[in-house]
Amino acid sequence: MNGPMQGPTQDLEPGPQARPPDRTAPRRLAVFGAGYVGLVTAACLAWLGHELVCVDSQPERVRQLRRGGLPFHEPMLGELVQEQMRAGRLRFSSSAEEAVAHGELLFIAVGTPTAADGAAELAQVMQVADAIGRHMPGPRQVVMKSTVPVGTGERVRQRIREQLALRGVSWPLGIASNPEFLREGLAVQDFLRPERVVAGSDDAGLLEALRALHAPLLSDRRPFLAMDLRSAELCKYAANVMLAARLSLMNELALLAEGLGADIEQVREGLGRDPRIGAQFLRAGCGFGGSCLPKDLRALRHSAAALGQATPMLDAIAASNERMVGLLETRVCEALGELLDGRRIAVWGLAFKPHTDDVRESPALALVRALLARGAQVQAYDPMAGPAAREALGELPGLHLAGSALEALQQADVLVLVTDWPQFAELPAEALRDRLRGTLVLDGRNALDGARLAAVGLQHRGIGRATAQALPPVQAWPLTQDRSTPLGTAWPHRPGHAGAAWLAS
Ligand SMILES: NC(=O)c1ccc[n+]([C@@H]2O[C@H](COP(=O)([O-])OP(=O)(O)OC[C@H]3O[C@@H](n4cnc5c(N)ncnc54)[C@H](O)[C@@H]3O)[C@@H](O)[C@H]2O)c1
Repeated sequence: MNGPMQGPTQDLEPGPQARPPDRTAPRRLAVFGAGYVGLVTAACLAWLGHELVCVDSQPERVRQLRRGGLPFHEPMLGELVQEQMRAGRLRFSSSAEEAVAHGELLFIAVGTPTAADGAAELAQVMQVADAIGRHMPGPRQVVMKSTVPVGTGERVRQRIREQLALRGVSWPLGIASNPEFLREGLAVQDFLRPERVVAGSDDAGLLEALRALHAPLLSDRRPFLAMDLRSAELCKYAANVMLAARLSLMNELALLAEGLGADIEQVREGLGRDPRIGAQFLRAGCGFGGSCLPKDLRALRHSAAALGQATPMLDAIAASNERMVGLLETRVCEALGELLDGRRIAVWGLAFKPHTDDVRESPALALVRALLARGAQVQAYDPMAGPAAREALGELPGLHLAGSALEALQQADVLVLVTDWPQFAELPAEALRDRLRGTLVLDGRNALDGARLAAVGLQHRGIGRATAQALPPVQAWPLTQDRSTPLGTAWPHRPGHAGAAWLAS
């Protein structure tokens, strides 16, 4: 990637042809957390010419990264990490002390999962704060990239100062919030081509340091937005609940469209071309999941409740999404009955969205669990998230993780698409028809071409599609007919019996 220098306002396109920008002022930086956000931050800042130590509390993760492996799938990230390690600008460590000694700026990018009461769990953040306070060898600036409740920056400052006080020192300490807006699956691109960079602090020097770090990525269209600490913290939550609200409103409109005989995909076109509305995050579907939107929605509602403030909008988003995540199960039951013993359901997609192997709060996992609980045999496939789903679900009787999308269809009564990997839409309709024993295709993301499926005799039911109204009654393979497995042995009536071995194989 080394090559001629670029002007600071040019769009950066990471990849083999990309060239890093002017590396005039390399700085020593450390990142806590080698997850989606931390690893991307560390690799991209190294690419910008800085010297990075990335520290993680999981020793196995650190060993894997040192060997050149990635702990999760993220396009372009593996190459970038390896290249920056080879260039000597990025190294991984298990030692917080080493990271604090190295970095003038310390980025915190550890997890903030949901606590039992719905709040953001800050244990990982506070562990890092304590470690910084214990090991600071002099003045340091701390930058929060994790999504944290408003006021956390001040708590982190307090926590570090307490540790410094125990050591009898009081080094200057800057605190900033620099929330991350990257999308998994596009994380490297999003980091290097941010729509905006938000930074909040009461420390003008730290804000200037952050602006300078991001300068090669900024332009008139990609501004650096400096604000106060609390506003920056709220900005991240505001962005995520705004996106969740758009999705939930579209989902509600989609169900309304079904009742009214309209088609949400056509409505979406008409909406999205209005510049006041914009086209993104308008796809109706079977609910949102992932590691951010549901968690951040819960955390913001919890913050509001702690203030005694009502949040009718946020509450409605949560309730609406819960309904949508349960919709496909309802539709399977409408077609096959409440008890699914002996039924085979093909599930396409396990990740919470395509181009990632992240299954955190994936609507697909919720569906798989619900179908298994009703006695169904589930044949699921995801191009990438199979291992992550296996780890999250465990060895559940009745669940078979198929090796291909077509294998998952074998003799299934219904196909349910939950994650819209583009390759699903590319499979020939005949291949679906020939493997399914039923005719119903429930398309939770409006990803498949209903007309092509109808042309071979399959019934496509999307979310909010007008065509759902025109469909004849659902045809499902009657339970009394052929229930042989692809291997020819009798299908077990309940999971866990003899024939279930095929599913587990
Ligand atoms: N994943 C996303 O798309 C995304 C996008 C924007 C913001 N965020 C936010 O960024 C934060 C991190 O998210 P993520 O998805 O990268 O999480 P992650 O779970 O993928 O990674 C967190 C990492 O931190 C490590 N860690 C935990 N405690 C540590 C400690 N004391 N010292 C060093 N490392 C430690 C963990 O081992 C793990 O590798 C969260 O607050 C999340 O809400 C995530």
